[in-house]
Amino acid sequence: MTEAWRPDEELDRPRLAASGPVKVRVPAKINLHLGVGPVRADGYHELSTVFHAISLYDEISARRGDTLTLTMEGEGAGELALDESNLVIRAARTLAAHAKVPAHARLHLRKQIPLAAGLAGGSADAAAALVACDALWGLGLSRDELASVAAGIGSDVPFLVYGGTALGTGRGEAVSPVLARPSSWHWVIAIADGGLATPDVYRELDRLREAGQAPRLPGHASNPLLGSADQLLAALRQRDPAVLGAALDNDLQAAALSLRPSLADVLKAGHAAGALAGLISGSGPTCVFLASDGPHASRIAEELTTAEVCRAARTAHGPVPGARVI
Ligand code: C5P
Repeated sequence: MTEAWRPDEELDRPRLAASGPVKVRVPAKINLHLGVGPVRADGYHELSTVFHAISLYDEISARRGDTLTLTMEGEGAGELALDESNLVIRAARTLAAHAKVPAHARLHLRKQIPLAAGLAGGSADAAAALVACDALWGLGLSRDELASVAAGIGSDVPFLVYGGTALGTGRGEAVSPVLARPSSWHWVIAIADGGLATPDVYRELDRLREAGQAPRLPGHASNPLLGSADQLLAALRQRDPAVLGAALDNDLQAAALSLRPSLADVLKAGHAAGALAGLISGSGPTCVFLASDGPHASRIAEELTTAEVCRAARTAHGPVPGARVI
């Protein structure tokens, strides 16, 4: 059954420290609109994006321990470093420093969201670690406080604390929920073999723009490179999948296609399978397709699987809540 997302929902957290285990579920994100501006002085790009949380989940369980440890299973096990470079460990340490408590926890990650896929899996895991450690250590931070800690960990992490559908500005870390009437959208997620590194895709966009090879959307008067999210936000309010499909756009798509030209075949196969629209998610290489309802999404996923253009095709719906104790 489709889960209703309530923007006023409070974090489901115990007031006292949990003896553990605390289990937290966190969704993947796609970008319904991704307008990328010029590079800023800090090396990031100014964004105007619409984040959307979908029902493809990772799970973190947190138990009491004498040190901070991380183990994992599922997608990327054996490939993903579990040391201090891991965003989960960084999130736990950042939260412990913020709250002035020892960073002691035994964390276990069950991963379904593929790595380096444009679905913000690593950021999702960091958001889940914040919510799990907040509950394990009995900190009782509000969601806004957790999101402000999250901004120091990565640009997409604050959104995954909130979930739903939200406008992201700044480098993506400034998040405001989109308060549309409840509706559910149906997606097909075409997962690729191998990932794309986000910094490479941003760099490729800069290169294409310098060479005059990246199409630009009509931008803000103050910042002509940065495409506005207004059309997408208006389309969300109409609650018509065909209207939403026509408004989906991603400035990083040209760059992802330039680095991985075979993604054009995935997009073509999705259109041939009857999707209302298709685009690359974030920095790619995952492609997402909009369907009119759940059965339509299942048919598209079957056809993509038969066409053998991707590693796996999954159906998902959105919006769903962000990182939550379950
Ligand atoms: O914030 P996060 O660590 O997730 O960003 C990963 C990389 O993506 C950055 O180091 C940068 O190369 C690129 N990025 C960017 N502009 C943004 C967000 C990310 O250039 N707004």
